Amino acid sequence: MANQLDENLENTRQRMEQLTEEINRHNRAYYLENNPTISDELYDSMFQELVQLEQRYPQFKSLFSPTERVGSEVKSELVKVIHAVPMLSIHTETDYTAQGAIDFDGRVRRELELKDSDSQVEYDCELKFDGLAINLRYVDGILVQAATRGDGYEGEDVTANAKTIRSIPLKVDGFPHIFEVRGEVIMHKEQFQKLNEEQKVKGEKTFANPRNAAAGSLRQLDPSLTAQRKLNFYAYSYGEVSEMPANTQWDLLSYLESKGFPVAKKRLLVHSPQELEDFHENVAATRDELPFDIDGVVYKVNNFGLQRRLGFVSREPRWACAHKYPPQEVQTQVLDITVQVGRTGKLTPVARLKPVFVGGTTVSNATLHNEEFLEKLGIKIGDTVIVRRAGDVIPEIVRVIPELRPAGARDFKMPEYCPVCGSHAYKEVGEKDRHCSGGLFCRAQRVQVVLHFVSRLAMGIDGIGEKLAEQLVEKNLVTTVADIYRLKIEQLAALDRMGFKSAQNIIDSIEKSKNTTLERFLYALGIPEVGESTARTLASHFGSLKALENAPLEKLLEVEDIGPSGAESIIHFFAEPKNLEVISQLVELGVHWEDMPAVNKEELPFYGKIFVLTGTLPTLSRDQASEMIRKAGGKASGSVSKKTDFVLAGEAAGSKLAKAEALGVKIIDETTFLDMLKKEKLL
Ligand code: IVH
Repeated sequence: MANQLDENLENTRQRMEQLTEEINRHNRAYYLENNPTISDELYDSMFQELVQLEQRYPQFKSLFSPTERVGSEVKSELVKVIHAVPMLSIHTETDYTAQGAIDFDGRVRRELELKDSDSQVEYDCELKFDGLAINLRYVDGILVQAATRGDGYEGEDVTANAKTIRSIPLKVDGFPHIFEVRGEVIMHKEQFQKLNEEQKVKGEKTFANPRNAAAGSLRQLDPSLTAQRKLNFYAYSYGEVSEMPANTQWDLLSYLESKGFPVAKKRLLVHSPQELEDFHENVAATRDELPFDIDGVVYKVNNFGLQRRLGFVSREPRWACAHKYPPQEVQTQVLDITVQVGRTGKLTPVARLKPVFVGGTTVSNATLHNEEFLEKLGIKIGDTVIVRRAGDVIPEIVRVIPELRPAGARDFKMPEYCPVCGSHAYKEVGEKDRHCSGGLFCRAQRVQVVLHFVSRLAMGIDGIGEKLAEQLVEKNLVTTVADIYRLKIEQLAALDRMGFKSAQNIIDSIEKSKNTTLERFLYALGIPEVGESTARTLASHFGSLKALENAPLEKLLEVEDIGPSGAESIIHFFAEPKNLEVISQLVELGVHWEDMPAVNKEELPFYGKIFVLTGTLPTLSRDQASEMIRKAGGKASGSVSKKTDFVLAGEAAGSKLAKAEALGVKIIDETTFLDMLKKEKLL
């Protein structure tokens, strides 16, 4: 009896092993060799059988079972990862002609100090995938981490998601102790079309192109969603490695291929710029036959020794270059031209097109930007036009074909009044865009106006997010921002996903926000071109709202940072009676601030200095530190560049610190920062 049981168990174990092997074999045939050996149905039934057996007999489940690829638990956020070796980008040759290849070869030869007569440089030519770069870290042959490129220094951990991609090996035999494989996650065209059709049926958002679909699918909090999206991976580079088993790019790719990584079939070793260009052209001619989108080709100096000699300029290797293709163009017809009012009140003419397929997606609308663009094109409704789309760039109309203009083609003129709210739609002299002047009143702008008004640096009202703002506007509880101060707790509590307690919190926060400052209030008004820092400048320059409201153009132009278009925007805003009405209601409802004395910024100690904050400071919060920098006349910026004067770094500072070090920007800690302020008697 016991024997019989053992035997049954042994059979089950063997069956599971056999299923695992077969599924893996079919995965390889499908994803690596592009040559499916069995039907989807048969594959699914084997897969299901294995899933069920693994549930019943977990003791026999392999750590690397293909069922691991269906996705594990849902996360609340994607964790940040610092790359052991930065993930750089490559120089892009924008010249679409043969000159692009000649220029690259010329640069390489110059850097290597080769004469024309000298021996040739060997180049590896590859496809330039149009997806999302990813770093796969293997320790002792086991995939331990997958991370997106992010800004090159810091990416996001997508390990669970990457494991669902069947062409990514979970385990590699005979790999060096540490080996990071880099490559691109992409979605094949066929899968992309299928996904968009499914999304449409489900009433969910469709993706503009395979690249966005790949990115959206990989950067999921729920790996089981990534699993359903059927992504592909292609290897083309490496990151940190404890041992390098190849001396050339070509051999590296062959090595990776032998270890089970998918590598593009189309690659070539060449020795002259003419051959580089031949590859560029040859790939262009067969581009449509590839199962995935590419946006160009990549040339790499093949020899790793030469690569090291060439090194890097800023963040790009001198030994590689992307040679792109010109965007694809097709012909279609303009069915109509309509006007959209954006969240900032900008009026944009949009061409409604007869749908055409170009650059990997169906295009049925194209922006016409503004009046100047309309005039330059000389477009009429009914015209036949050339539409162009490159990579993830939005489709554009390149030109009209006048010979194909039908007899009934109609002229189009931009309206002088906002098509949504009827306010005057003005265009400043010298400006291209027309704007609706009903900023605090226009329906098209309402949800955004509310979100901006309540935002942290504006009125700082907590608890009103996008969903709630939409409900407030839709249910007509909020037509202008003044209505926010008229909200009753019962009205809030009756909304979706709202309890009495959260409603009370919002009411409390609204009440608290009434006590504000002039700079916050000005910023909250959402005047076009008046951002947070301009609002601050205006507040300190004019000291009171009345003074600003009454300021003529010349006075506005005297203010630092305010140009002619900013000045006109302020004039238009305060000239619209509907806006003044909302402001006076806000004041009547209790919003108040203290007027401030005007100061001369240029005399402040940090005047003109740019600071970047990173990491957690020991005692100050980010907002506090920024506020102190500003009070001393400096600017707090978000990203490190050559223009940065100081990086104020705290605990767990990430890529910004690395970047600052690379650029040689001065790095200070909180103590030094506070000392600087003390020295200026600002503390
Ligand atoms: S090599 C240090 N090879 O293009 C160079 N990149 O701008 C490492 N890409 O972020 C990259 N195909 O996402 C390399 N065959 C290829 C590529 C490729 C596409 C992407 C990659 C990278 C970007 C570079």
